[in-house]
Amino acid sequence: MKELLDSLNVFLSDLNVFYRKLQNYHWNIKGNLFFVLHSKLEEYYDEINEQVDEVAEHILALDGEPLGTLKDYLNTTKITEAENKKIEATEVINTLIKDYSTLLQDAKNIKKLAEQNEEHKTSTLMDDAIENYTTKLWMLKQNI
Ligand SMILES: [Fe+2]
Repeated sequence: MKELLDSLNVFLSDLNVFYRKLQNYHWNIKGNLFFVLHSKLEEYYDEINEQVDEVAEHILALDGEPLGTLKDYLNTTKITEAENKKIEATEVINTLIKDYSTLLQDAKNIKKLAEQNEEHKTSTLMDDAIENYTTKLWMLKQNI
């Protein structure tokens, strides 16, 4: 069970850092796809923000302790932060493909641990995440 809770906290850290990165890109995107990507990135980070809350409250429901500080997230995440600079569409799309792949890997890993622990709610939650990230990856890959 400890390994499952630790993996959920890694996922929570990845989601939090990815949220900040998506909003950074929403601010810094430039080029002829600005209008499309500016609003798409907002849609993405709103969705990730909901997942942050869902995962943290799920950790609590399992009697775990969700990480809740930026310092913890930066020490735990596998996602690389964005920089404070303008960014072009192609770089944004390529980075999102990499980061959604990381989230998909998190979700698959957690699902495996959940099934070993017969933790069915976690397993179901990860089904939704796996479906979400798989669809995102398919769509993002059509842009390059
Ligand atoms: Fe905005």
